[in-house]
Amino acid sequence: MKLYEQLTEHVATLIREGALRAGDRAPSVRELSRNRGASPATIVHAYEILEARGYLESRPRSGFFVSTRWRNPPAALAVSRPARRPVPPKVSGLVFEVLEAMRSRTLVPLGSAFPAPELFPLSQLARHLSASARRLDPWSTVEDLPPGNMSLRREISQRYLRSGAQVLPEEIVVTAGALEALNLALQAVTRPGDVVAIEAPTFYGCLQAVESTGRRAIEIPTHPQHGVDVDQLERVLAREPVRACWLMTRFQHPLGATMPEAARQRLVELLAARDIPLIEDSVYGDLGFTASHTAPAKRHDSKGLVLDCGSFSKSLAPGYRLGWVAAGRFAEDVWRRKIMTSLCTSIPVQAAIASYLASGRYEGHLRQLRRALQAQQAQLLAALERHFPPGTRWTRPDGGYFLWVELPGGVDAIELHARALEHGISVAPGPIFSARKDRTSAIRLNYGHPWTSRLEAAMETIGRLVGKLARG
Ligand SMILES: Cc1ncc(COP(=O)(O)O)c(C=O)c1O
Repeated sequence: MKLYEQLTEHVATLIREGALRAGDRAPSVRELSRNRGASPATIVHAYEILEARGYLESRPRSGFFVSTRWRNPPAALAVSRPARRPVPPKVSGLVFEVLEAMRSRTLVPLGSAFPAPELFPLSQLARHLSASARRLDPWSTVEDLPPGNMSLRREISQRYLRSGAQVLPEEIVVTAGALEALNLALQAVTRPGDVVAIEAPTFYGCLQAVESTGRRAIEIPTHPQHGVDVDQLERVLAREPVRACWLMTRFQHPLGATMPEAARQRLVELLAARDIPLIEDSVYGDLGFTASHTAPAKRHDSKGLVLDCGSFSKSLAPGYRLGWVAAGRFAEDVWRRKIMTSLCTSIPVQAAIASYLASGRYEGHLRQLRRALQAQQAQLLAALERHFPPGTRWTRPDGGYFLWVELPGGVDAIELHARALEHGISVAPGPIFSARKDRTSAIRLNYGHPWTSRLEAAMETIGRLVGKLARG
């Protein structure tokens, strides 16, 4: 981590943990410069980042202060307290209903699972797709069968290597999006009836995969900012016959939580000592707002037990359905399953994405995308401050495009979802993220869309509805 990032994290932690409160003066540039051995310019750079992220505000001739609008440190949201026993999740019916209701183009997409299409280089991709299709070697329809197109796997492997994770092309299997990667990984490392440790709350696709394959889920308490609680996981491992973990260590869906690097390492070591595979869902891994957290937990994997699943759906090419799993010692099992499930991922699409990555434009696109998402997050946070009633609490993720909101006064999120639809607005209700359909007073909001007056008005409407539905 660069020095300015360490400083940013240090001061952000002081604020989140309540050591510095709204209106407090931030440590002076001179003092911090002396204590941390950094130049004043580095401190000011860190403070400007904190200002952009809503932690600090600068006052002319007085310096930096904790933003007076800072009233919802994510730490104020409690770690989840899920039930202690494994269950077969039963969320699919509700998830399909909610997803169906969100399909309409005319809805304000606060509940959408997708970011705005205009944030992606779709016309550049189209050029790579048509050129790749024209050049397609007929033999590639055989050669690119699983594990998949070698140039693409090399490009993905190089991205891992740059992040510090030793992943060779041989262990990468190309899939139809991360969802197929995750499902194949689950089937490779568990059998029906097995217990899988998951986060609470978690991505509904995880709950559906566990449900549809007849596995059971044990939910692990998860902190809204620091992710899964490794101490609690250790206790569960001592009590339950857990066969695999399925976790998001960065920009967790739906909380936006990110595990600190040390916790990520401890998690991998804890599981390695017990020979338990970790299915890591890294779909939002490229969407971090700072240069920290670039590496998946896979970086600490020395036994081939981590199956890191990724895709380009959230970061480059929505709709192309291109993903992969870096499957470690399970690679051969996974690619055989891929052949049995869908034979292979579209060959022209594999070639097109390989060609786009080789053009060297991906990093520049990611920088732009992250900047847009960060600015949009700041807008959504400001709208939450303006329009939601006191007692509402929310997370401030360091990446991705979702945040989690806990509503005051026992508001029923399913009812809020229904009332919002009547106003042409979607929100994602908390119960779809829980194996037991609890989290009844929480919603997930999407900030993947450029801010408009329509979004602002929608937030005002939702805030008003929350006020009406809240008891007392
Ligand atoms: C956490 C998480 N994992 C996996 C997926 C699926 O990714 P893909 O579209 O690449 O299959 C999603 C998509 O919504 C997601 O949010």
